[in-house]
Amino acid sequence: MTTSVDHGQWSSRLAFILAATGSAVGLGNIWKFPYIMGENGGGAFVIVYLLCILSIGIPVMMAEVLIGRRGRQSPGNSVRTLALEACANTKWSVVGWVGILAGFLILSFYAVIAGWAVSYIFEAGSGSFVGASPEKIQGIFNDLLASPGKLVAWTTVVLGITGIIVGKGLKDGLEKAVTYLMPSMFVLLLIIAGYAAINGDFGATIQFMFYPDFSKLTYSGVLIALGHAFFTLSLASGAMMIYGAYLPQKTSISQSVMAIAIADTVIALIAGIAIYPIVFGNGLEATAGPGLVFVSLPIAFGQMWGGTIFGTIFFVMLGFAAFTSAIAMVESAVAWLVERLALERGKAALIAVLSLWLVSMLTVFSFTGAEWAKLDFVFVGKHVNNYFELIDHLTADVLLPLGGLATAIFVAWVMKRDVVQEELNLSDGKFGIWYVTLRWFTPIAILFVFLNLIGIVSF
Ligand code: PHE
Ligand code: NA
Repeated sequence: MTTSVDHGQWSSRLAFILAATGSAVGLGNIWKFPYIMGENGGGAFVIVYLLCILSIGIPVMMAEVLIGRRGRQSPGNSVRTLALEACANTKWSVVGWVGILAGFLILSFYAVIAGWAVSYIFEAGSGSFVGASPEKIQGIFNDLLASPGKLVAWTTVVLGITGIIVGKGLKDGLEKAVTYLMPSMFVLLLIIAGYAAINGDFGATIQFMFYPDFSKLTYSGVLIALGHAFFTLSLASGAMMIYGAYLPQKTSISQSVMAIAIADTVIALIAGIAIYPIVFGNGLEATAGPGLVFVSLPIAFGQMWGGTIFGTIFFVMLGFAAFTSAIAMVESAVAWLVERLALERGKAALIAVLSLWLVSMLTVFSFTGAEWAKLDFVFVGKHVNNYFELIDHLTADVLLPLGGLATAIFVAWVMKRDVVQEELNLSDGKFGIWYVTLRWFTPIAILFVFLNLIGIVSF
């Protein structure tokens, strides 16, 4: 049984775009994209990633926002309502449930990394990077990872703040924070990129990011690019469906989605251009993994004029960007608790963050290197060494693409075509291109990547 709850709506189209962009732009762009690009050889990975955004991410995002707006409930219940409307099996609602689960699992490690960003506000502000050698800066990062106390404390801070914001309800503050955050983050990233281009190895960066060498790209790299397209656009994780549920009826879904996807992609590319000149200019390894941005940018902040101030502001913004994403990851679970158990938002948020805190310890102790958090097996084409790697891979590379596949099939094959067209309100030509993509290209491409990995199909 589900109680019918009115969750309210965004105050305007802009409010939705801002909140959804806030959810999209986050650690995925600035922390994750640069390091997975480095681990997967650069340019060729970037091209596959961009193709995935265009031909899979954007169509799926439109499908999710559409489901949310027409269903007006938490993801599982929205899909259920639409399945009933289409006279189809209500089992389709699993599309929504898996999304809620994925959002929850992602936040369990995202909160830990957000904690690093928040702790670096103080690291930068106290001047620890000034004039420091790359070795010393690497040491600061290693010390953080070696300290379970610090990691637990910062993760607790992040989850606590997230719980408070979510508990207080959607619109207070969030819209305003994002209005100023996005433009200023963009400007600051440009400044850092400009500094890096002049003082670091810009030539090597352009070569690395934009000259594809397809011999460096593996099948698992293709899967990672696909998974990251979902992750970075906050897809298949409840977020876009629940934000769509608050969207006023008149807003154009397609235009909003394009704006969000463009902003997200541009910020990721600029993050790469800000980080890699410093990586190459200081002899760091592109394959350094999750620590990449936390080591490379502090080197630049330590050398540049005003670096203490720029560094502090940068990590404040990264922290904000992470919060606006964290909120989106847990919002659908909270909305569901409110619908299902008729809980107050505050209580629902408390339950969510307490359980998240427990699960987040798997990631904390993966980074401290605790024996019990170590793993050693291959899971869907990737060798995982600890719980963080398992949860990251399980969500980004498995749950999100499969959730996106199911969403595409549901909207393009199960829902009635005229219902979909009415919601999107696109002119026939534009609708046709999008619909054909979502109906054929998107599912086939996702399936192809998976089957390839399992070895059923090969080039
Ligand atoms: N898109 C966010 C980022 O790039 C992460 C995210 C995933 C947010 C899923 C919400 C839901 O950082
Ligand atoms: Na993103």
